[in-house]
Amino acid sequence: MLSRMHAVNFIEKKRDGGEHSAAELQEWIAEYVAGRIPDYQMAAWLMAVFFQGMNPRETAGLTLAMARSGEVLDLSPLGRKTVDKHSSGGVGDKTTLVVAPILAAAGLVVAKMSGRGLAHTGGTIDKLESIPGWRAELTDEEFMRQAREVGLVIAGQSKNLAPADGKMYALRDVTGTVPSIPLIASSIMSKKLAAGARIITLDVKVGSGAFMKDLAHARELARLMVEIGRHAGRDVRAVLSQMDEPLGQAVGNAIEVREAIVTLQGEGPRDLTELSLALAREALEAAGEDPELAEQVLCDGRALDKLRAFVAAQGGDARVVDEPERLELAPDVLEVRAERSGVVERLDAYRVGVAALRLGGGRERKGEPIDHGVGVRLLKKVGDSVYEGDILATVFHRAGRGIEESSRLLQDAYRIGRRAEPPKLILEVVA
Ligand code: URA
Repeated sequence: MLSRMHAVNFIEKKRDGGEHSAAELQEWIAEYVAGRIPDYQMAAWLMAVFFQGMNPRETAGLTLAMARSGEVLDLSPLGRKTVDKHSSGGVGDKTTLVVAPILAAAGLVVAKMSGRGLAHTGGTIDKLESIPGWRAELTDEEFMRQAREVGLVIAGQSKNLAPADGKMYALRDVTGTVPSIPLIASSIMSKKLAAGARIITLDVKVGSGAFMKDLAHARELARLMVEIGRHAGRDVRAVLSQMDEPLGQAVGNAIEVREAIVTLQGEGPRDLTELSLALAREALEAAGEDPELAEQVLCDGRALDKLRAFVAAQGGDARVVDEPERLELAPDVLEVRAERSGVVERLDAYRVGVAALRLGGGRERKGEPIDHGVGVRLLKKVGDSVYEGDILATVFHRAGRGIEESSRLLQDAYRIGRRAEPPKLILEVVA
């Protein structure tokens, strides 16, 4: 057990730029989760890490200690082709709903835990809960059985998965220590390692709507996460993708599920289709499969069949897969129109995300209920020409809740100028 003096020495070591051993980090995290290190000492240490950083070896040691702080799923009975996909968080990011059925249809096993949305970024579980009847809470037996029988299962994140991260993240949130690359990398990867998949495909978002605002920092984060994975014997690859403008046209919950289904029907927006296929190809290659399978199962309908089986297995109304309009949108509609003619030069993802949040489609605090039907459809994106009075975006709202602020945010999100190219979507792959 760490004595009080010993804990102070540990904090001082990092404050003065020293390097922690894996054994020290293991003890520090275990003692913290057991309640024997108080929050104020952990907060002081997090701030020391914020300023002094950690090298990749230390970061891997911290990540493993955090991953082992709770339950570690053993997916080995499902074979070696278990895969997890994770996004660092963006606006309109429904790629999991497209990529997971593609991978399962191509023969991999996607057994995944997902989070709920917070602030301006959405969460996969919230989106899926807009399907009537679909449930996120599964027992361990149900989770493994569905993985074996359907090849695709997505459950809400168990509280006992990397509990050190939950406690540390709550502290980081109120002590100004969230934006630290080693702390972000260990936070994300501890949950991924505990969730058990052998192959991990990361979508690291870069831009105004993302955690990482520039390519250099996103690259550093991606390289670190790939290295942590290697240390832990996993095959991790990261795709760096643009998040200055939202992905696809839909931002919300039910509206995003509709768009994901339409994409699996082969009629989705170009950017969502391109990114989903790129992520799927990376995972297939890591599994030793032909990456071209991704496009094949998308085109021949096998991925859509897999989505149908997945929705039904988790109690959802599978008719939505063939008739996505069954997913209800909020009844009140407002159109945001262009105030001048020109070309869309910028569409700020962050503002669009906050606009959907203000309508009630997201949550400012953990545990708040959300409205699955509200959302935004972006009819114009960067590079599109517009005439004054054209509809830029359609807003689905409920009885005017948040509509004033939301429509102002959307109006401000668009910058109309003279000329712009659609932005490059996939910036780099780190493997
Ligand atoms: N996502 C996480 O899970 N943790 C972080 O620290 C940042 C983004």
